[in-house]
Order: sequence, then structure tokens, then C-alpha cells
Amino acid sequence: MRVLSVASECAPLVKTGGLADVAGALPAALRAEGVEMRTLLPGYPAVMAALGHGAGQVAAEADLFGGPARLLAGHAAGLDLLVLDAPHLFAREGSIYLGPDGQDWPDNPERFAALSLMAARIGARGLTIDGAAWRPELIHCHDWQAGFVPDYLEREGGDCATVLTIHNIAFQGLTGHHMIERLGLPRSRFHADGFEYYGKLSALKAGLMRADRLTTVSPTYAAELMRPEFGMGLDGVMRARRRDLSGILNGIDETAWNPATDPHIAEGYRHPAGKAPNRDALRAEMGLPEAPGPLCCVVSRLTEQKGLDLLLEALPALLDRGGQLALLGSGDRALEDAFRDAAREDNVAVRIGYDEALSHRLIAGSDAILVPSRFEPCGLTQLYGLRYGTIPVVALTGGLADTVINASPAALDRGVATGLQFHPVAKDPLAVALDRLCDLHAEPEVWAQMQANAMRQPVGWTSSARAYAALYRDAIAAA
Ligand code: ADP
Ligand code: GLC
Repeated sequence: MRVLSVASECAPLVKTGGLADVAGALPAALRAEGVEMRTLLPGYPAVMAALGHGAGQVAAEADLFGGPARLLAGHAAGLDLLVLDAPHLFAREGSIYLGPDGQDWPDNPERFAALSLMAARIGARGLTIDGAAWRPELIHCHDWQAGFVPDYLEREGGDCATVLTIHNIAFQGLTGHHMIERLGLPRSRFHADGFEYYGKLSALKAGLMRADRLTTVSPTYAAELMRPEFGMGLDGVMRARRRDLSGILNGIDETAWNPATDPHIAEGYRHPAGKAPNRDALRAEMGLPEAPGPLCCVVSRLTEQKGLDLLLEALPALLDRGGQLALLGSGDRALEDAFRDAAREDNVAVRIGYDEALSHRLIAGSDAILVPSRFEPCGLTQLYGLRYGTIPVVALTGGLADTVINASPAALDRGVATGLQFHPVAKDPLAVALDRLCDLHAEPEVWAQMQANAMRQPVGWTSSARAYAALYRDAIAAA
């Protein structure tokens, strides 16, 4: 089965969040299922550099939204890549989405329409790569950046199947309807059953209306998307497409996130007891004293979604019991400042920034990981926590609901709990959960059992890769 995956970021080449991890992991996970996946990425400087000189040109455009473009085929980091080299769109330093003013690049609509259009051309015409013909049977589109693929595919006369995965419905790729002609889209589709969204043009809605199948990254988020509280204005669309929507959980890269072999941590371990030297090293690195309660970490974007303002309010519940917080994150200025302030407490340590290696040391060295998100399509850090025997304390929403076994009386009785969930997502329920965490931490046998359960829980790609492959087969057969 030949599949083209279209994504705006892809680990380890370029990453702002979990989408990159998933786009980067899918090809290897799916290879075992007989899927030959190529990934189409924008030619950002980091991607061009990783591609090196071995890449060859497989297509060219004289004018793609205001400048020439080439399509390159090559390999990097174990991925088979197709890279859209369009310097006028992608050769920029700094964030891949935001300009130096912190606002979206003004030409983001064109940048990602260009990516989607190239995907459609590959789907319609195929390519010759290393002397062999290659045409995908299915295009797997990720988020709004690939939302126009099905429309362009129709325009280009392609007939391959399409799947759109929603990683986060909060990002919809909205722009003014004056852009319709500029992007080469049919104005006849500018209506409520097409890509019109309250008078604007929506790239995500375009894909949601048109892709053959829709997926999101957990079963619970799939159900939540149909409700106004979570659908961000698209819940009606999700309800209308309920039969074509499925929730397939993300996995994690079990090679990069393996406590036995992790090169970033103080000492590798296979059993929860092996966390002790990592905890000591982490305290030393973060300038935290010894403490009787659980050392809790956060590794996160600092945005409204992640609910970390609630953690600031609930923090006394942890600190009063001898617990500690170590946080790594970046994002909203106000949250960054608030956490810097909170770090004046002896038992709170904060690093503002993005640091892959430190994220491993935090997860290995902490007793618990906190994820109090208001919504969370899947979430990856709670999965890292499980693998490292670091007990997740999570909001009962989205993928957090699907991946953690709450320490309810019944689960404790059966010896199957792996973490704590709280609901509703508010300060007091979070404070109660932190208090409960301290209780469980103070019972060595119960705690050790939870850690062992967590480390045993499958968090890899095996079953989800199978689910994607089955979905692809279905969609191709029906197309
Ligand atoms: P989202 O995609 O919504 O940000 P996920 O939990 O799916 O949430 O993925 C976030 C990814 O980004 C994880 O791999 C996490 O470890 C990583 N990450 C987030 N913030 C940082 C940071 N400040 N430093 C290092 N890694 C980070
Ligand atoms: C989004 C979501 C996150 C999910 C990631 C990968 O960024 O916010 O929950 O894990 O995509 O699917």
C-alpha cells in the first residue's frame, strides 16, 4: 500500500508539538503493516539542511503562489521524504508558523495551500523517484495545513483516497474569503456545506467536509468533538460525519523514550527503584532540596489548552504536603512570568524554554507528571510518564481519559491503577487529586504497584498502526 503523508512538522527534523512526533513515527510503525509511506514536508531551513546533497528533483513549478518551487525526493532520519523547496514560502528563520512579531506569518494560507496543492498533484500525476514510478493510493492529511488536499485533488483530476487526522481542532486555518481565487479554489464551494465558516474560508473545514475518512488521536476526543464545548464551532460538522470518524490513539517512540537506554538521563533503569539516582540528579540540576513528598514535573507548551493556570492555583495542595514541582515549558508570556514568580518558592523550579534532553531527565527523575489540560486530543507526555514509571495526574478528557487507569478504589483493589484522573477540570478537583497523589506516595507498597503497572502498560504504536492500516485499506477499497 502506497501512502503519502502530508504534515507541516515532523520529528526529529522540525517540531513544535506532538503532531511532529506522530508524523515522524507513523512511517516506521506502518512499515510493519505493509504500508510504504512517504512524507511530504515544507522545505524549511532545518528540513533542507537535513536532506543534504543526496536529494534529487522530481518535479518543478515555475510559479507556486509567487515564486518558483521544486519538489525534492530524499531521505533523512530514516524517513522517505518529499520536500517542497519554495524559498519564497519556507526559507525563513525563526518559528515555522509565527513571524518575529509573534503573529502568524501573513502568508500562512498560501504556504500551506502550496503544500496541499503539491500533495494533490502527486496524488493525481504520480512521480518518478529513483527511476521508478510512484503514485500514492491514499493521501493522509494532518491538521488544517493539509485541509485543502481533497479540493485540490478534485481540481487536479486525482482519484486517490484521502484521510484527514485532527490533532487539534482549535487550529482551523481561517482566512478571508477574498483568498479563494488567490488559492485557486472553487467559489462554488463557499457555502455552509463546503469550506465556508461564518463568512471566512476554513482550511480545516474544507478537509473535514471532503476527506473520505476522518480520524482523531483518541476515542474520547472523537466523541468530545461532537459536543459544542469541544468542537470549537465544528461540532455540527463532526456530528454530520460521525460514521466516517474514528479515534486512533497515538503511540510514542519506544526507542527514544526507553528508560533502560535513554542517553539523556543520569542512570538507565528497568525497575522503578532505578529512578532514585535520576531523582537525586534532577534535584541537583534544578536546585531543589530533598523533600518528603512527590517530585512532580510538567513538560508542556504554556497555553490556555494545557490548564497550567489551574496548577498555579492548586499548587499549595502539593507544596503543603512536602511535594515539589519542576516545570519545563514555553509559550504565553503571562504564564511564563507567573511560573517564574512561582519559582521563588524553594520547592518549585522552573525552566522557560524548549529542551529535549532536559525533558527526558524531568520525566525519568520525577515521581509524577501533571497534565491538567482543559482539552487534550491525545497527549504524549503522560505516555512518556507511564513508560518511565512516573505517575500521571491528568484531567479526565481526550486521550488523557483513554490512557491512564485512575486509582479508584476498585482499580487499587484489583491492583491495576496507573495514575490519577480528575474532573471537572478546575482548581479544586486538581487540588484534591494532588492531595490524593501525596496520600498514595506515602504508601510505599501501593505506590510501587502503580509504578510497576505504569511501566508495563503498552504505549507503543503496534495496535494503532494496525488500526491505521485497516482504515487505509477500507478507504482505498471504497474510493
Ligand atoms: P501538544 O502537541 O499539544 O503540545 P503533546 O503532549 O501531544 O502536546 O506533545 C508535546 C510534545 O512536545 C511532547 O513530545 C513533549 O515532550 C514536547 N515538549 C513540549 N514542550 C516542551 C519543552 N519545553 N521542551 C521539550 N519538549 C517539549
Ligand atoms: C496536538 C494535541 C495533542 C496530541 C498531538 C499529536 O498537538 O494537542 O494532544 O497528542 O496533537 O496528535
